[in-house]
Amino acid sequence: MKDTELHFAIAVDGPAGSGKSTVAKAVAKKLGIIYVDTGAMYRTVALHCMEKGISTKDEPAVVAALDEIQMEIQPEEGGQRIFLNGEDVTAKIRTPEIGQGASDVGVFQKVRERMVELQRNLAGSHSVIMDGRDIGTAVLPDAQIKIYLDADVDERTRRRMGELLEKGEKEEFSLLREKIIKRDENDMNRVHSPLKKARDAVLLDSTGMNVEEATQAVLDIVAEKLK
Ligand code: DC
Repeated sequence: MKDTELHFAIAVDGPAGSGKSTVAKAVAKKLGIIYVDTGAMYRTVALHCMEKGISTKDEPAVVAALDEIQMEIQPEEGGQRIFLNGEDVTAKIRTPEIGQGASDVGVFQKVRERMVELQRNLAGSHSVIMDGRDIGTAVLPDAQIKIYLDADVDERTRRRMGELLEKGEKEEFSLLREKIIKRDENDMNRVHSPLKKARDAVLLDSTGMNVEEATQAVLDIVAEKLK
């Protein structure tokens, strides 16, 4: 199934650490389509604000800062690179603090409007697998395939700890778990496009699954839907 044969979109939503990006990258590779990580976009807005000394909770200041941000997404084999005003910030945005900042700026409607426009442009020109919090509900409501990927909070915390350890960073399990719960609450309870399962999304609980198993489960759902 190559991009030229059929134009389609796979929307993957779910809470922090549910394995969305790892699985979506593997699926993109397998299907020869583009992976779009929308969380990276909110993280990039947060990074810009934090670097400029703007509080990520200060709505007027964050919205004003949007005009200073030129964001570019470059899809690449097995992922995407993201540029902030010409600087490659792909690695820099992967910290728990920037994750929380991204959750803060994601509350603001003006921020969401800007990001959604970018996201729809990407999906308009390519077959994509796009992950985030509002892809199936708001960004791509007509996506052919919608998946809500979930996992038990302890497992999600272990996965995040593993990612941090790979970078040589350590965080106490209980602290990281609290941060994940707090971020999910913020994402689920905001007014604009909160995280929730789209009515027509397939719920996939990846607790106890390894990456290969979760990837295969997604591929099976895609094959079934595109039949
Ligand atoms: O997927 P992630 O952990 O990189 O996302 C970081 C934060 O960005 C997430 O907690 C909320 C926000 N976000 C959002 O509001 N909408 C999206 N589509 C993706 C992310």
